[in-house]
Amino acid sequence: MQKFAFKHFTHTIGDIQGSIPTFLNRKVVLNGWIDGNPRKISSKLVFAAFRDFNGDFTQLTAKGSEITKILRGLKPEDVLSVSGTVNSKRQRRGSNNNGAKEWELVVDNIEILNKSSEIATQLDSLKKTPSQYPPEYRYLQLRFPVYQNALKMRSKAAHIARSVFESMNFVEIETPLLFKSTPEGAKEFLVPTRRKGLFYALPQSPQQYKQMLMASGFKGYYQIAKCFRDEDLRSDRQPEFTQIDMEMSFAKSQDVQHVVQKLLKAIWKGIRGLPLYRIDPAKDGYLLEIEEAEDFPKLNYMEALTKYGIDKPDLRSTLYIQDVSQYFNGMPLKRSDFAVTEACVLKGALKLQKPSRELFIPENYSMRKPYVFKIRDEGELKSWARALPNGSNVSISDLNKKLGLEVGDIVAISDRQAFPYESPTPLGRFRQIAMINFPNSWRRHVIGSSDPTSRDIFVASWLVNFPLFSPTEGKIIDGYPEYEFSKLESTHHPFTMVKLEDYDLLDKEPLKAKGDHYDLVVNGVEVGGGSRRVHDAKLQQFIFSNILKIDNYPVLFGHLLRALSSGCPPHAGLAIGFDRMCSMLLGSSTIRDVVAFPKTQTGTDPVVESPSNIPDKTLALYGISVRK
Ligand code: AMO
Repeated sequence: MQKFAFKHFTHTIGDIQGSIPTFLNRKVVLNGWIDGNPRKISSKLVFAAFRDFNGDFTQLTAKGSEITKILRGLKPEDVLSVSGTVNSKRQRRGSNNNGAKEWELVVDNIEILNKSSEIATQLDSLKKTPSQYPPEYRYLQLRFPVYQNALKMRSKAAHIARSVFESMNFVEIETPLLFKSTPEGAKEFLVPTRRKGLFYALPQSPQQYKQMLMASGFKGYYQIAKCFRDEDLRSDRQPEFTQIDMEMSFAKSQDVQHVVQKLLKAIWKGIRGLPLYRIDPAKDGYLLEIEEAEDFPKLNYMEALTKYGIDKPDLRSTLYIQDVSQYFNGMPLKRSDFAVTEACVLKGALKLQKPSRELFIPENYSMRKPYVFKIRDEGELKSWARALPNGSNVSISDLNKKLGLEVGDIVAISDRQAFPYESPTPLGRFRQIAMINFPNSWRRHVIGSSDPTSRDIFVASWLVNFPLFSPTEGKIIDGYPEYEFSKLESTHHPFTMVKLEDYDLLDKEPLKAKGDHYDLVVNGVEVGGGSRRVHDAKLQQFIFSNILKIDNYPVLFGHLLRALSSGCPPHAGLAIGFDRMCSMLLGSSTIRDVVAFPKTQTGTDPVVESPSNIPDKTLALYGISVRK
């Protein structure tokens, strides 16, 4: 066994790169990894790429028989402490490092701190496509600068968030992870205890604890909090994820929105050096920077659903959905409870370069698909709507006029409920897919000479006026979701306050009541959500028992009701999905890129191989047996 009293690095590669002339001919020690196989030029000359812990690269050069032998024998990802002299290297033609010469380290001593496994050598061939690393070797994948930078960016964003909250005297408070099973929306992860039959549940969010902290008298709480939800996983969902969670007492929705706007502006500026944008109210096709003191614009739920077909619209595009029911003589497309017929036109889409997959409608899609028409010639322009189930009597020329439809366009038709609970609607999804396929078409621009590309544009808004309650969604029949209107659910969570103007609707017509809820939406992503809370125990009790019909609410939520009825001030808050926000800042399509050890689609951690079997003997301690 070796003791490894290794030579500590005297400099980083970046230190030297930044000031090459001052380092020339100086002795330095570097720590890092061999990057790829060393290249033997002759028995007296060997080169190897070397990477340090900052992800910077240089070349190690071994001259002379002894040291070349050692360098030549090294494998990719062996970890070293190398001593040597900084040497100026002939500049390659075409390389541009602003006049500074390139350098190499002429090595005089190599300490091997640890050899790498065969696996690391085999995986070296994947260097050009690091995203294809087998997930069980995540720790090796994380050595790549691209992943290192993602996690560094995440750390910096957390730091900015903390400094914004601290500057406003918020208190960071940790809340328990061993919580109690209470229905809050998603399925929970349960934790058995050795007190037989008793379980903890991992929190879906710190919602109830943070409300109790408001009853405790804190003015402002925040926490970068772990949350757990046992739900179907997608690219923007993990079973355990992180929220920037906050709550304020003696506060209304507007107070929370002000804090969150300040936070978002600071993070966007600190991480990307970019502003957030809003639609120019004077010119629909353009965007304006949201100024320092300016609020994010608000968009009503109903407007979002009817114009964009989704409650988290991507506003970078000018694509709209239009209600065309009137052209169909009152005939619904297929079902009378989905009475609104609507259209979305992709102007000039047939002239655009085809997307790699011409997928306006995804495969294996259980919801109903919109009817999509390519208008290739005058004949199709005159007849297209006849093919619709409700199209026999439609006045196509009037409809074309309303839509501004011309040869070369694509038009999609579908239906929705008069008050849409479905989000996205079929056309909402169609619009999203069109935007993904043609990111540079139909896009809003920023006035000025340096119109940023869509990657650098972030359009922010508050989605407001959601229905407080929704009917329970049942089966999907022929692509149409069935709704049970006698069984209501909270659209968000049961602690959301009703809009004051709708207070009186709670008793008789709760479905018509709007919630004092606000979702923070950036570029079609629900970055966060929050609300003013019910702080009156009597109202909360009424919602649990009369509206949501939760019979055992005193057992499930007694703690919260007792806290609310002990002089709890009015309060409001919000949680930002930290992983989602970071992946958006990174420009990544999946939150897995900003999570150190993400779970796979099936909820497995492939590195540690969890979840795992537990022996029957151990399970017996918990009073549990597994049916085989
Ligand atoms: P909500 O459920 O809307 O609200 O969650 C807040 C934000 O968390 C993110 N998010 C997720 N991110 C990754 N994986 C998941 N499985 C996942 N689920 C949600 C989203 C979402 O906007 N307690 C309330 C907040 C409040 O009312 O204060 C809550 O948790 O970006």
